[in-house]
Amino acid sequence: MKTKRATFLRLAALALALFAPAVYAQQRRAGSELSLLCTPQVEWCEGMKAEFEKANPDITVNFVRLSSGEALTRLRNERANPQFDIWWGGPADSFIAAKQEGLLEAYESPNLANLKDPKLMKDPDNFWAGIYIGSLGFATNTNYLQANNLQAPTSWDDLLKPEWQGQLMIAHPSSSGTSYTALCTILQLRGEEKGWEYLRAFNGNVLQYTKSGSAPTRFVGAGEAAVGIVFSHDIVAQIERGAPLTLTFPDEGTGYEIGGMAIVKGAKNLEAAQKWFDWALEPTTQELGPKYAAYQAPTVKGAEPARPELLQVNLIDYDFEYCGKKKKEFVDRFTNEIANAERLKE
Ligand code: F6P
Repeated sequence: MKTKRATFLRLAALALALFAPAVYAQQRRAGSELSLLCTPQVEWCEGMKAEFEKANPDITVNFVRLSSGEALTRLRNERANPQFDIWWGGPADSFIAAKQEGLLEAYESPNLANLKDPKLMKDPDNFWAGIYIGSLGFATNTNYLQANNLQAPTSWDDLLKPEWQGQLMIAHPSSSGTSYTALCTILQLRGEEKGWEYLRAFNGNVLQYTKSGSAPTRFVGAGEAAVGIVFSHDIVAQIERGAPLTLTFPDEGTGYEIGGMAIVKGAKNLEAAQKWFDWALEPTTQELGPKYAAYQAPTVKGAEPARPELLQVNLIDYDFEYCGKKKKEFVDRFTNEIANAERLKE
């Protein structure tokens, strides 16, 4: 009887020694996921996932790439059962709108101290932080210019000229943060009343609206339209891929984005989300952009911009609070009065 009991105990101990580490590892893996809502180019999202996993081998990142407006809609719809832990990228206006709707979780990362200009580059209550900066530009098909003996546009007024009728391409502000930045730039440059008049006239020259902000660089590069209104770093990335594009900026001033990042309210993997947040505010992380064809300027001290000339242009004093708080109103007005969001080109 005694020997039977001793054998049983020995076997139980052996089983525990053999299987416990596997169970523990399984639990660790299950607890070490990060669900990322990623708004920049998919190439950069993939690169950042790989880089973060390399630095944090116990965390697996799963990401979905969505344009800013789509991302905001997803967060709204999932409010009761959030599927994402962190939202990384996309103009800050959408983060300000998300904060206003109670969709974000404040986080006082120690690395907020790295920001070059905390007043401009983060939420005063720490609901979001800036991770890059980029200016709006015009991408014109160089072959089209030569064939038609035209000059690339260098002002917002130029875009209204008859020579660009049916030749402009831009994303729709309901889906795209790029396009919303352009819309709010116009309203600030001209004032609301004149701004809406401008947007109506501009719409008359638009060939088609796209879903994502950077998509016009591909279509204009392929000769489907002559001019795209896009972030300048996306134009540079497309030129590097060999597209025949000429980059210009509007003389009277152009808008710019501060790319935002925020933890989603009710994030299921809060600790991992905080790790990503801290990591994204490291200078070495922000200098990774160009490795993945992302030429936005960094927001933290100690990180150098790869293409400083993209910010050495006439930038307007873009009011992120105004544009963020008015986002829903302005997008609804654009959709109802100027161009609906049906059949957006992908
Ligand atoms: O392609 C990168 C990028 O231009 C970012 O700089 C920007 O924040 C984001 O895309 C905006 O994407 P969308 O206009 O599709 O919302």
